[in-house]
Amino acid sequence: MIESQYLKGLVDKARPHYKTIVLPEGEDPRVLRAANIINKEKAAKIIVLGDYKEIKHYFDDNNWNLDGITIIKPEESEKLEEYTKLLYDLRKEKGMTEEQAKQTALKYNYFGTLMVKAGDADGMVSGANHSTADTVRPALQIIKSAKKGRTVSSFLIMISGGKQYFFSDCAININPTSQELADIAISTAESVMQFGIDPRIAMLSYSSFGSGVGEGVDKVREAAKIAKEMLEADEFKSKNILLDGEMQADTALDVVVATKKAPQSKVGGRANTLIFPDLNAGNIGYKLLQRLGNCEAYGPMLQGLNAPINDLSRGAFAEDIVGVIAITALQAVK
Ligand SMILES: CC(C)(COP(=O)(O)OP(=O)(O)OC[C@H]1O[C@@H](n2cnc3c(N)ncnc32)[C@H](O)[C@@H]1OP(=O)(O)O)[C@@H](O)C(=O)NCCC(=O)NCCS
Repeated sequence: MIESQYLKGLVDKARPHYKTIVLPEGEDPRVLRAANIINKEKAAKIIVLGDYKEIKHYFDDNNWNLDGITIIKPEESEKLEEYTKLLYDLRKEKGMTEEQAKQTALKYNYFGTLMVKAGDADGMVSGANHSTADTVRPALQIIKSAKKGRTVSSFLIMISGGKQYFFSDCAININPTSQELADIAISTAESVMQFGIDPRIAMLSYSSFGSGVGEGVDKVREAAKIAKEMLEADEFKSKNILLDGEMQADTALDVVVATKKAPQSKVGGRANTLIFPDLNAGNIGYKLLQRLGNCEAYGPMLQGLNAPINDLSRGAFAEDIVGVIAITALQAVK
């Protein structure tokens, strides 16, 4: 049923942890198909938000088994009051009234995020029918950064010629400052390590170590400097993280080019993690690879949050959703 070998591997890795993942978009057939695959594979405990009768009907029509899946209609949930109070307590200082909390907790993305905050789910996957902002905003407001003040960002896993690459940030931060870009690089290093891989991080620009000039280059060079300083912290010292920049994409990925443009760099020619200078570059870059370069793309997944909440592309196929659910379950493993 799952064709991609990479996807099968993710599902196999998630299975032993059997994390609970909430899917707020029970009205979407792709989400239900993905829920069925994950449930059949016993890769995670699935909670779907939506109408029981309608979902049961869809499962029956497809001869799928609903056993193992929990369906919750937020409007009828016995937890609604508890979640409303939780939301109000978290947001009253930001000006949210009790009435607003009542209305907001009923929105399925907020309800799902509150389930994660309350510990009733380990992670949430949404976005098949919602904009990135509508999925991400509740997470930023309720789940918040794992490290105070650190920028929350996103990463993608790109599979090209059987090789795995990590891209960031292609979804959240529109025009990050040098500090924010450094935060993005450090969070991505942590995400890469969650997959048991040693990060080799290239801070991308149109210049390789001073070959080009401009404000954009200065920003990335400064970000590389800050990120290197952040990597001096005790928590990273024992880890095998390499980071360098600024450099061009070909310098990062091609050994021959790197020999000429960055002979001194340990990352040049062998990067497995690419940090883009802004959202235009990152978003365009990954979509080009996906559409013209035949790459599989998983994500964007959020990183730097206290608990995993992930956004789907609205063009996602059911298999993509399966991948994001499996990755969310893996991110929930402490
Ligand atoms: C992610 C995004 C929706 C957040 O913007 P927003 O909703 O206007 O957020 P706000 O500025 O109102 O901030 C909401 C909260 O999140 C926090 N926040 C916003 N961005 C953050 C970030 N990157 N990291 C950490 N916290 C962040 C704010 O501090 C604020 O917290 P508070 O309300 O507790 O004080 C916005 O950055 C965005 O639209 N990004 C681009 C998304 C996009 O179009 N992607 C391309 C398609 S994939």
